[in-house]
Amino acid sequence: MNWIDADTEAPLTLRINGAPHSLRIDTRVTLLDVLREHLGLTGSKKGCDHGQCGACTVLVNGRRINSCLSLAMMHGDDEITTIEGIGAPGSLHPLQSAFIDADGFQCGYCTPGQICSALGMLQEAAAGWPSHASEQLEGEQPLDTAEIRERMSGNLCRCAAYPRIVEAIATYAATLAEPPA
Ligand code: FES
Ligand code: FES
Repeated sequence: MNWIDADTEAPLTLRINGAPHSLRIDTRVTLLDVLREHLGLTGSKKGCDHGQCGACTVLVNGRRINSCLSLAMMHGDDEITTIEGIGAPGSLHPLQSAFIDADGFQCGYCTPGQICSALGMLQEAAAGWPSHASEQLEGEQPLDTAEIRERMSGNLCRCAAYPRIVEAIATYAATLAEPPA
């Protein structure tokens, strides 16, 4: 059979931000394009479409991925979280508030990806995953500036707001380490 003539559409139900979305899509479409073009969830941004900028970062079962590199059809059994599911005007996630307080963005294009990526990164560090900057390979990974920069190095910011981004993430991470009041 000539693949060009094949029926490339298939039904798919994606669970995004806690809600199911049933679609019929081209099986070759990326998760990023489904989010943006089919579901109107435009918080996830397309920067490079090649896995190099991190603007499209979303959480899949709590882990960060570049949604431009992942076919939507792979995620029928997954729990997907986009920036729209993390916070909204009037009910911001504390990390979003930390970005505002630290002035951690300029144009804001990279920010949804930065925030999704940071939330995934913090879970990785909490689980004891080392990074290239880690001085130890096991145990708790302290999140100093070098660690945060290294762990967030997959998320580019064309406005070069990096110092403020790191500050925002560090401020939020410190609140996680505080004992409950
Ligand atoms: Fe996905 Fe750049 S748009 S990594
Ligand atoms: Fe403009 Fe990061 S704030 S690209």
